[in-house]
Amino acid sequence: MSNAAAKVVMAVTGIIFALFVLVHMIGNLKIYMGPEEFNGYAHWLRAAFHPVLPYEGLLWILRIVLLACLVAHVYCGFLIRTRGRAARGSVRRKGMDASTWMARTMPVTGLILLGFLVFHLLDLTIGAAPVAPGAFQGPTLEASHAHANVIASFSRVPVALVYGLTMVALCAHLAHGLLSVVLDLGAAPGPKAVRITSAIGLAVGLVVAFGNLTIPIAVLTGLV
Ligand code: HEM
Repeated sequence: MSNAAAKVVMAVTGIIFALFVLVHMIGNLKIYMGPEEFNGYAHWLRAAFHPVLPYEGLLWILRIVLLACLVAHVYCGFLIRTRGRAARGSVRRKGMDASTWMARTMPVTGLILLGFLVFHLLDLTIGAAPVAPGAFQGPTLEASHAHANVIASFSRVPVALVYGLTMVALCAHLAHGLLSVVLDLGAAPGPKAVRITSAIGLAVGLVVAFGNLTIPIAVLTGLV
């Protein structure tokens, strides 16, 4: 696969992830509407379009699409990085440093998000102790207990910190990723357009990260 093709794959899968985290964050904010609304939403995700689709049918379609995107995104990122390093050899480039810390730390923030994803699935989807709280309750055919699970999980200060700190990585990865999408899909913006695109990327990153960040804070302060 050429580097150009790998960058297009990263851009397209990156857009899908950006949409996912935005929609997931909006869904997460339903926690402020109370247990019934939040659990109802979590249950709907499993029961949606039943009986046209089997129970969890929509969820499994989403899981398979997201997993395929994740494998492609990580593989292409690895490919571009290792090729770049091999091509550079022992020669140090001068004057070509990535311009922001967000750009330089893309591999690191990406790995943090990958680690977080495993942690998050064990915590709130699979319910595997000790990552998940002892009180974790899996969903049944009739109901979800997502609200109680989130409260039980985020009431643990170290876990709330993991979620909170991950939001910094999410914001940085999303902000620089959205700029990369525009550049890698072939747009050749001038300096002003690059600044505007960067600002939009940062705004989206901040909105998603801040929306999520409010939840561990609200749980720890007893607001929810
Ligand atoms: C404070 C922030 C977050 C909260 C409160 C939260 C909450 C939840 C909850 C409650 C579930 C389980 C839903 C259920 O099984 O009914 C879930 C699943 C999931 N979350 Fe999050 N989430 C947060 C951040 C994130 C972030 C940043 C990502 C991506 C990087 C993410 C990715 C996922 C994925 C992939 C699933 C699995 C869906 C599945 O396969 O069942 N979450 N989240």
